[in-house]
Amino acid sequence: MQRRDNPYTPGAGRKPPCLAGRDADLEGFASLLEVLSSGGPERSRIFYGLRGVGKTVLLMELDLLAAEAGWATTDVVEVGSSPDFRSVFAQMASRLLREMSRKHPIRDRVERALGVVKAFSVVAPGGVQLKLDVDAVGGVADSGDPEQDLVELLREIGQTAASAHSGALFLIDEMQNFDPASLAAVCMAFQAVSRDALPVALAGAGLPELQVRLMRAKPYADRLFEYRALDRLSDPEARMALVKPASLLGVDYAPDAATEVVHLAAGYPYFLQEYGRALWNAAEASPITAADVDEVRDLVQEQLVRTFYGTRLELATDAEQRYLAAMASLGDPPYATAEVARAWGAENQRQTSPHRDSLIQKGLIWAPRRGQVDFTVPRFAEFLLAHHPIGGFERE
Ligand SMILES: Nc1ncnc2c1ncn2[C@@H]1O[C@H](COP(=O)(O)OP(=O)(O)OP(=O)(O)O)[C@@H](O)[C@H]1O
Ligand SMILES: [Mg+2]
Repeated sequence: MQRRDNPYTPGAGRKPPCLAGRDADLEGFASLLEVLSSGGPERSRIFYGLRGVGKTVLLMELDLLAAEAGWATTDVVEVGSSPDFRSVFAQMASRLLREMSRKHPIRDRVERALGVVKAFSVVAPGGVQLKLDVDAVGGVADSGDPEQDLVELLREIGQTAASAHSGALFLIDEMQNFDPASLAAVCMAFQAVSRDALPVALAGAGLPELQVRLMRAKPYADRLFEYRALDRLSDPEARMALVKPASLLGVDYAPDAATEVVHLAAGYPYFLQEYGRALWNAAEASPITAADVDEVRDLVQEQLVRTFYGTRLELATDAEQRYLAAMASLGDPPYATAEVARAWGAENQRQTSPHRDSLIQKGLIWAPRRGQVDFTVPRFAEFLLAHHPIGGFERE
C-alpha cells in the first residue's frame, strides 16, 4: 500500500474519513438547528471529554451542518490559555455578521450590528483592537458590565440573524480556559437569547472540568445547556473507525487483527488513528493481518510514550511530575487530594496544592469535585506506572 494514500488522521483536529460513534450527536444537532430556525426552544450543546476523544473534529462537523442549514458560524474558535473573553466574542461576532452580510441582503442591519460590536469591544479593559470600519453605536453593549454587555451583543446578533431568516452558531473549543466571570457572562447571554427565542446557538467543547466550571459559574447552567460526554468508542464503533477508512480504499482487515487493535486502543479515537496509520504503512498487502499488528505494536506504543505522553509530562515541573506519579500510585480514580499529598511525601496538603493548581492550569489534571483530582489524558496512570513510578522521583 502506498504511504501517500494513507487515510488515517492521527493528530489534533484532523478530520477522520469516518467519524465513528457520533451519529446521535450529529442528528441531535441537526434537529436543534431546525427547531431554533423556526423559533422553537432548544438547549445549546456542551461536549466534554478527555484529550483525544474527538471534541474538536466533532465541532468541525457541526460547523458543516450549520453551514448547510444556512446558518452563519464563527468556525471553531479555540480559547487560549489566558483569554480576554470580550475580544474573543467581539471577533466571533464580527465574523458572524460579515458572513451574514455576504449571504443576505441586510447590509444596513449588519452595519448597525457591527457598530454595536465596536462599542462592545471599545469598553474592554485595554481596548480590543478590532479593525471595524464603522462608527460605534452608543448605548448598547457598552455599559462596561461584562455580563450585561454580552447579553446585548448576542441579542443584536440574534436579531440580525432572524431578520435574514438565518441563524448564528458560536463554536468554542477549549472552553474550560475561560475564567469563572467569563463563563458566567456566557451563561447569562445564552440564557437571554434563548428566552427571546432567537436563532443563536453555542456548541462548546472542553475538558471534563468544563461542565463543573459552568455549573459553579451559574447554578442554572445545568438546565441551560445539554451536556454530552464524549468518551471512548464502543467496540463496534472503534472497529468501524479503524476498518472503514481502509475499506473505502479497497483494503481489508482480518477480523482478528481488527479485534486486537480495538483492544489495544481501548476505544480511544486518537489511538485508533495511530495504529491505523502504522498498520497501513507496514502491511504489504490487503488484508491487514494479526502478524502486521504484532509488527507495529511496540512501535506505536513507543511513539505514544514519546509524543502523546512524553511531551505532556514535559509540561510539568519535577515536583508536579512527582504529583502525577503520586496520583497514579493510588489505584483507581478519582484520587483524593489528601491521599495524593501523602503519597507525594508532603506533611500536609497545603504543601502540594500549588502543584495541583498548576497541573489543572496546564490542563493535565482536573478536579471532579472539591478534594479530588483525575487525569485529563486517557490511560496516563498506566503510562506513569510503567515509565515514571513514584519510587523513581527524588524527594526534594
Ligand atoms: N469519532 C471519531 N472517529 C474516528 N476518529 C476520530 C473520531 N474523533 C476523533 N478522531 C481522531 O482522533 C484524534 C483526536 O481528535 P480531536 O483532536 O478532535 O480530539 P480532542 O478531543 O479535540 O482532543 P484534545 O482534547 O487534545 O484537543 C484525531 O486524530 C481525529 O482524527
Ligand atoms: Mg481538541
